[in-house]
Amino acid sequence: MSFLLGVLGDPIGHSLSPIMHNRWYKEWNYPHYYHAFRLSKENLSDGVKGLKALQFKGFNVTIPHKVDILSLLDELDDEASELGAVNTVVQEKGRLKGYNTDGRGLISAINEKWPTALEKAKVLMIGAGGASLGVALTLAKSGVSQVDVTNRTIEKAEAISQKCSPFVQTKALSLTEAEETLGTYTMVIQSTSLGMGPHGLDQMPLVVNQLQKGTYCIDLIYNPLQTRWLKEAEEKGALTMNGLPMLVHQGALSFEHWFGVMPDTASMITFLTQHLEETHANR
Ligand SMILES: NC(=O)c1ccc[n+]([C@@H]2O[C@H](COP(=O)([O-])OP(=O)(O)OC[C@H]3O[C@@H](n4cnc5c(N)ncnc54)[C@H](OP(=O)(O)O)[C@@H]3O)[C@@H](O)[C@H]2O)c1
Repeated sequence: MSFLLGVLGDPIGHSLSPIMHNRWYKEWNYPHYYHAFRLSKENLSDGVKGLKALQFKGFNVTIPHKVDILSLLDELDDEASELGAVNTVVQEKGRLKGYNTDGRGLISAINEKWPTALEKAKVLMIGAGGASLGVALTLAKSGVSQVDVTNRTIEKAEAISQKCSPFVQTKALSLTEAEETLGTYTMVIQSTSLGMGPHGLDQMPLVVNQLQKGTYCIDLIYNPLQTRWLKEAEEKGALTMNGLPMLVHQGALSFEHWFGVMPDTASMITFLTQHLEETHANR
């Protein structure tokens, strides 16, 4: 039986999800098809009704729908409910259930690349948007020893730190304080949108002068593959990872929710890295 799936977002033109999922379907000999749908906030409700009527197996949601989708679902798993955000929806017998695979996607990506990095890790999250919340809370519950949060708008960092506080040692700090204490962290995760094309390729959330050699540095951005922040961290001797492994692992976890099996992640990361390099070379 062949199924339809997709991703809803706005903008959505540069999404790698169709390439990734359709490639996995080919690898698994599935006759399914995954499509990217550009859908405005106003049309989300009608769009979801349409996918329900067409018996889509499931779909992903991305910016700006991760929170608005909640009111259109019949059920939420515990993680999505706690985060108040969904990125994966499964349709079964006409009912829609929401999940959030972003945080666990990053943890799987870290464990695949650096199997011991999370043991007793002291983590600094830069940024306090939706992605930061998912990652910070999942890390807080995973047994790391500290999750601190810094952000331009400190109140948002405080809100995330408060959510993490039942599970882990945590505090919110200003960007200046974070720059000064950067050397005390074993892992730094950059989750602002600074450094992405539209936000200025040369912009950095904070300077990395105090960074210790061997610190694990992750940027959730994957386009460009190396932001200025990640490049400067690497030059200070950090071990670095861009956002592509997280994208692939959160997608693999969505795949698992729909089909009950995990697709191969390592070869997909290599494939999409080459794809992005070629896309840039041809610009
Ligand atoms: N790799 C993946 O699979 C994956 C998954 C999800 C997200 N992401 C990436 O993660 C990033 C954040 O996504 P999100 O959903 O969390 O976005 P969001 O909710 O809009 O949060 C944006 C964050 O960036 C900060 N920011 C934006 N402009 C800034 C500026 N000029 N100066 C300083 N800080 C600024 C915001 O600070 P304020 O709070 O002060 O505004 C906030 O912390 C995006 O680049 C997204 O592509 C990657």
